[in-house]
Amino acid sequence: MGIFKKKSEVQGVDFNALPEHIAIILDGNGRWAKRRGMPRTAGHAVGSENFRKIATYCNDIGIKYLTVYAFSTENWKRPEDEVSTIMSLLEKYILEAIEEVTKKNLRLRFWGRRDNLSKNIIELMEKAEKKSEEMTGMQVNVCLNYGARDEITGAVQKIASGVLDGSIDAASITEETIGENLYSFGAPDPDLLIRPGGEMRLSNFLLWQLAYSEMFFSDKLWPEFDERELDRAIIEYQKRNRRFGGI
Ligand code: IPE
Ligand code: IPE
Ligand code: MG
Repeated sequence: MGIFKKKSEVQGVDFNALPEHIAIILDGNGRWAKRRGMPRTAGHAVGSENFRKIATYCNDIGIKYLTVYAFSTENWKRPEDEVSTIMSLLEKYILEAIEEVTKKNLRLRFWGRRDNLSKNIIELMEKAEKKSEEMTGMQVNVCLNYGARDEITGAVQKIASGVLDGSIDAASITEETIGENLYSFGAPDPDLLIRPGGEMRLSNFLLWQLAYSEMFFSDKLWPEFDERELDRAIIEYQKRNRRFGGI
């Protein structure tokens, strides 16, 4: 299924020049629900289903890495009932993903701080990662309790203790040394960052890794962000001239 049917449906996407790595800030769930007179939490439930749909599409067309921002280190500021609904939705999502990953040949990883998550979620995350470790299809990185400043701070701490115990020579620290100590180690930097929801900011997402990513901002709210909008983002990406500082 998938790829050939999709190819004929889509006008304008060059399937030979796809971004290898797409990153998405899953934003706009709350507003989507409010506009329909529903509680914000209903938006998170629909947003979580939409993620499944978009991830399947990305895998079908041949994207190699998909990284999504699901919960930030700053999102704990939200009302307790919203946080606990998001956590139970994530738990449900991961539980279902444990079965799905092998069927769909997906490798699942979680990027973010684990220490203040519930024991149950941490166990499920570990189980999903372990079960999907050997999969050869798209790698899905779910950023959960993730903050880029927190990630970089953690890397600095690890490197500093290496310098202290003599295993790292301070003068030999390179950009690679830092990259090796980030959650993203092993994955290429995102080629394309997509932010639905109308805001034009990074909100502490992948500050190191997005240095040369192309950006696409969409006014569609995440629950209504569909395959066609993803195609639009890819088409726009394919028109960009990436120079990486060269000419
Ligand atoms: C994104 O949607 C989901 C999370 C941050 C967990 P929001 O909940 O931020 O939705 P808006 O931006 O308030 O509409
Ligand atoms: C970014 O969205 C975080 C996630 C989507 C997980 P926010 O809704 O938290 O960002 P701000 O508050 O609008 O910057
Ligand atoms: Mg938001």
